[in-house]
Amino acid sequence: MRVAGIIRFLALFATLLGCWFIAQTYFERSGRSIRLRSWLGATGKPRSSQQLPRHKCGNQRSCPTNHFAFKIISGAANVVGPSICFNDKVLMSNVKNNIGRGLNIALVNGTSGQLLKTASFDMYSGDVTQLETFLQEIKDGTVILVATYDDAATKMNDKTRKLFLALGSSYINHLGFRDNWVFLGAKGLQGKSPFEEHIKNDQKTNKYDGWPELLEMEGCAPKKQD
Ligand SMILES: *[C@@H]1O[C@H](CO)[C@@H](O)[C@H](O)[C@H]1NC(C)=O
Repeated sequence: MRVAGIIRFLALFATLLGCWFIAQTYFERSGRSIRLRSWLGATGKPRSSQQLPRHKCGNQRSCPTNHFAFKIISGAANVVGPSICFNDKVLMSNVKNNIGRGLNIALVNGTSGQLLKTASFDMYSGDVTQLETFLQEIKDGTVILVATYDDAATKMNDKTRKLFLALGSSYINHLGFRDNWVFLGAKGLQGKSPFEEHIKNDQKTNKYDGWPELLEMEGCAPKKQD
């Protein structure tokens, strides 16, 4: 009796599964054909004009004139490196092989958009005085783009935080162990930069085991007028 019951149950289950599979396939097909028809009916234009226009740095919007498009993506845990794009050029990335654990920084001329320097600073076990010197040497009118990777806070000291504050950061005083932070600032900026995002390393909200979700920030930075 028992075995028969199990067999009956399995047969029912298999039937249901089969029905679901057929329905799924049918609706998916019909959905596709409807989409295809409306696509064909809507316009007679060739396919290429149907694609969304590509904006600088792959951003969602284009930037007004006298602005630079940028996109800064922080690292993901200690696995995927950050990337920094400015004016449609990837300045730092895994592929370019110029990123590292800690802080990844690109400096560009705020007037011309020309790349001046890239550097990465190991903030877990590196020498923080190198970062101090690097930040102190930044000249007026220079734009700074920053992305964290893994940990960017262990070696951070008051002097370095003050230098970032002067470049327009609001968050740097709160940057802690394994927090993610992306920032675009400038030397000689009046007030605070609107281009800054951060996420705390918090066991309760972390996306990865031991690290928060990565950050992605894109926008349009005004060109410096002479
Ligand atoms: C930035 O570019 C402008 C215009 O090309 C130039 O006059 C200026 O000297 C440059 N500044 C730096 C710091 O490179």
